[in-house]
Amino acid sequence: MKNNDLLVLGIETSCDETAAAIVKNGKEIVSNVVASQIDSHKRFGGVVPEIASRHHVEQITIVIEEALQQAGVSFADIDAIAVTEGPGLVGALLIGVNAAKAIAFAHQIPLVGVHHIAGHIYANQLITELQFPLLALVVSGGHTELVLMEEHGTFKVIGETRDDAAGEAYDKVARTLQLPYPGGPHIDRLAHEGTPTIDFPRAWLEEGSYDFSFSGLKSAVINTLHNAKQKGETLDPKDVAASFQASVVDVLVTKTVQAAKEYGVKQVVLAGGVAANKGLRHALEQEFDTLPIQLVIPPLSLCTDNAAMIAAAGSVLFEQGKRSALDMNAHPGLDLETFHNKK
Ligand code: KG4
Ligand code: ZN
Repeated sequence: MKNNDLLVLGIETSCDETAAAIVKNGKEIVSNVVASQIDSHKRFGGVVPEIASRHHVEQITIVIEEALQQAGVSFADIDAIAVTEGPGLVGALLIGVNAAKAIAFAHQIPLVGVHHIAGHIYANQLITELQFPLLALVVSGGHTELVLMEEHGTFKVIGETRDDAAGEAYDKVARTLQLPYPGGPHIDRLAHEGTPTIDFPRAWLEEGSYDFSFSGLKSAVINTLHNAKQKGETLDPKDVAASFQASVVDVLVTKTVQAAKEYGVKQVVLAGGVAANKGLRHALEQEFDTLPIQLVIPPLSLCTDNAAMIAAAGSVLFEQGKRSALDMNAHPGLDLETFHNKK
């Protein structure tokens, strides 16, 4: 490690992964530790906030120590601590925020609060140099957004979901098909084995709108399954999954391409847990192959929640002079634009 290297410890506990990572100069992963709680939440069919908090308490110290150990560094080597301040489950966020504050206070290390979505977008900086203007398609369990970035650290939400997030729709449809939680990967797998035989609706919304809506699609899938059952017919879950996925991917890809052209962006980056979706990745690759816009898709491990992405975003904010005070709190409903664009 050179003396002028910037070493940032990232901490993420907004939902059901306890994660800590060390990132060098905002770009290079030195260590990246994720303790997933999925197995504990599976039998409840979704994340139980109280169980999530308890797991974070049990894991946080172990995960941070492991991140330091794997990187071969101590707190004395860390230049800044970046932590997810929101949005997320308040009882989960608080564990990461308090751990970060305690370390920052005890070791006199600067603290930087990071918006979870800014983290997901900056996961792409761990793969390639970001080029502006940039458009990010953020698709996770809690968010579906098109975010325009004119430069580092500024975010403009040009479209967002009016109801369910894409991942939420995946998880709800999966539950109806009696697939385990989280359902996204299972639907994705089934979709590749099936054929899109059912013409499910696509919510394009008003002309020129980059907003999304997935609740109508989710209801259409549930109604179709229900009606078939009442008539004593059986639908192949593989075809239902393929048809559902075709509708989601069609809307996401069409709106992303339109926005990328309208705003004349140099780069389109994919972010969030649903970015792991093979159908979505493939469709985006095909579309952008013929356009003079670079498409960046992170590896699966950087699409789902992790702390390296928080450290990457935190590094940029730290270099821009952003600092959080020790009275920092967790903000479950934190807004991306108002939080990061303030001077
Ligand atoms: O970003 P993430 O790890 O957590 C949130 O911040 O929400 O995203 C989790 C979401 C879940 O809804 C999960 O079902 C979905 O990402 N997901 C997928 C796939 N892998 C994960 N959705 C569709 N296809 C996948 N392959
Ligand atoms: Zn996330």
